[in-house]
Amino acid sequence: MTRCYNFCAGPAALPEPVLEIARDEMLDWHGKGLSLMEMSHRSTEVVGVAEAAEQTLRELLGVSDDYAVLFLQGGASTQFSAVPLNLLGGKTCADYVNTGQWSKKAIAEGRRYCEVNVAASSEGTNFSTIPPQDVWQLGDDAAYLHYTPNETIGGVEFFWTPEVDVPLVVDMSSTILSRPVDVSRYGVIYAGAQKNIGPAGLTLVIVRRDLLGRADDKCPAMLNWQVAADNDSMYNTPPTFALYLAGLVFDWLKQRGGLEAMERVNRHKAEKLYAAIDGSDFYANPVELSSRSLMNVPFTLADDSLDKQFLQESEAAGLLNLKGHRSVGGMRASIYNAVGEDAVDALIAFMQDFEQRNG
Ligand SMILES: Cc1ncc(COP(=O)(O)O)c(C=O)c1O
Repeated sequence: MTRCYNFCAGPAALPEPVLEIARDEMLDWHGKGLSLMEMSHRSTEVVGVAEAAEQTLRELLGVSDDYAVLFLQGGASTQFSAVPLNLLGGKTCADYVNTGQWSKKAIAEGRRYCEVNVAASSEGTNFSTIPPQDVWQLGDDAAYLHYTPNETIGGVEFFWTPEVDVPLVVDMSSTILSRPVDVSRYGVIYAGAQKNIGPAGLTLVIVRRDLLGRADDKCPAMLNWQVAADNDSMYNTPPTFALYLAGLVFDWLKQRGGLEAMERVNRHKAEKLYAAIDGSDFYANPVELSSRSLMNVPFTLADDSLDKQFLQESEAAGLLNLKGHRSVGGMRASIYNAVGEDAVDALIAFMQDFEQRNG
């Protein structure tokens, strides 16, 4: 068996030890004579798996009891609606910061429910920067401020946390668990699982408990965080297998030394890759230096007529999913937690070889 290096933006690479455990436990989970997938979500076994996953996640991220941890479905995109439905609480306006394609989607969805004040936007720089907070224009009576700490497509990341008087709501889909964060600074953190958490089909929401109970009457029960919290994320049948795999990923992160250790590795990987890009005239990354994502590294070739060849040859070399998002073109290497330094080294070696042959 040969496993390739997978640079997919999501669903993304999973840690090999996690896949091995899942394989070994697939037919017979802990001697029970059946797969975890085949058990009732109300069984002691599955409830135990869910509780352990939540506990380990709380430890990893330092989530206090002031916050509910919810395991939901529908992806981060569903939370674009759930956020206003749960948080407006009678207000009619919310602040959003627009730093790229995912912010835009959250804004478009937010507009269905309230007046969206775009407090700042980096569209003018083609989303290659993060607007500093001193230029933000906050609304007068916003229910919350929403932003996207890491834009998966543009590869821009916030390395600072805004200071505002309203609850901060963040779409952490592509940065969660890549480095420590101070959860207490946020009202709501949400993330689709399929990057650093586990397989697709699971959505994480971490919500400060005092923000529960404000949902609009018309909020569907399935989107209502209070309902999820009251039912331990089991108001309906949760994606039990995805939850189990996420729990294994959390255990793996803990064994690797937690998020501080992950940050060291992730910074090292990203620095190497950006250095290789910056050190050549053949490759380029458009993002301002202080906002370059640790997880998603877009890059272009000076001669874009070589893009197709680059992708074909990289794939043949076992380096998969390097095509940039369809909205921006070029290449993108997503180097999440499960993408090791060996993968980054292999990519850099390929890029240098490709440049030598075609530069
Ligand atoms: C930052 C960000 N937000 C939202 C999404 C959408 O997530 P989902 O497909 O889980 O709805 C993605 C997906 O890549 C993303 O990267």
